[in-house]
Amino acid sequence: MAERVCPPFIGYFLLNPLRKIVENPDRIFGPFVCEGMTVLEPGCAMGFFTLPLARMVGPSGRVIALDIQDKMLSVLGRRAQKAGLIDRIELRRIGPDGYGLDDISGQVDFAAAIHVVHEIPDKDTFFNEIWKALRPGGRLLVMEPRGHVSREQFEETQAIAEKIGFKKEDLPKKIGGRSVSLIKQETNA
Ligand SMILES: C[S@@+](CC[C@H](N)C(=O)[O-])C[C@H]1O[C@@H](n2cnc3c(N)ncnc32)[C@H](O)[C@@H]1O
Repeated sequence: MAERVCPPFIGYFLLNPLRKIVENPDRIFGPFVCEGMTVLEPGCAMGFFTLPLARMVGPSGRVIALDIQDKMLSVLGRRAQKAGLIDRIELRRIGPDGYGLDDISGQVDFAAAIHVVHEIPDKDTFFNEIWKALRPGGRLLVMEPRGHVSREQFEETQAIAEKIGFKKEDLPKKIGGRSVSLIKQETNA
């Protein structure tokens, strides 16, 4: 599976507004996100999904946007400022010491990992970190690009998440790419 990290110039392409025709944030996240939620978005890049998520959680919610690249986060910060949404968005850079999510353990209602898992070499650690951050009953939506990730590779990824304790759920509707909704069931907490 490809594990090359998306460079910043692609980050700009990902902001293309025409992308909404195939990957509409409101349609994708509508069944999962409502006002007041705490949302975690690993692999946020320059925030194609982050700003719509921030609008969906409203002034009483927050979006924790995580990336490993400073450039992605600095552009996202500027865009969030301009859109008047910076107060709801927390930018975090994953460093060599790990994801740094201990302070939000068990607090996240919903996590969105869109087109990022195939870039992560250590998927066990990734799913473990998201598992710890989610509250019991919280959900993780994973979407991967068909062009980069085969059906078999996506199944392997899901198996890692299931080994950690996530349960697969039916998606409320087709949302594109290779997608799965994973729940941290209350009984597993
Ligand atoms: C292909 S981009 C997708 C960005 C965004 N989710 C979207 O769909 O527009 C993948 C992003 O994930 C980030 N990334 C790669 N490995 C990561 C990791 N271990 N944790 C968090 N972000 C990561 C990259 O820096 C890049 O910004």
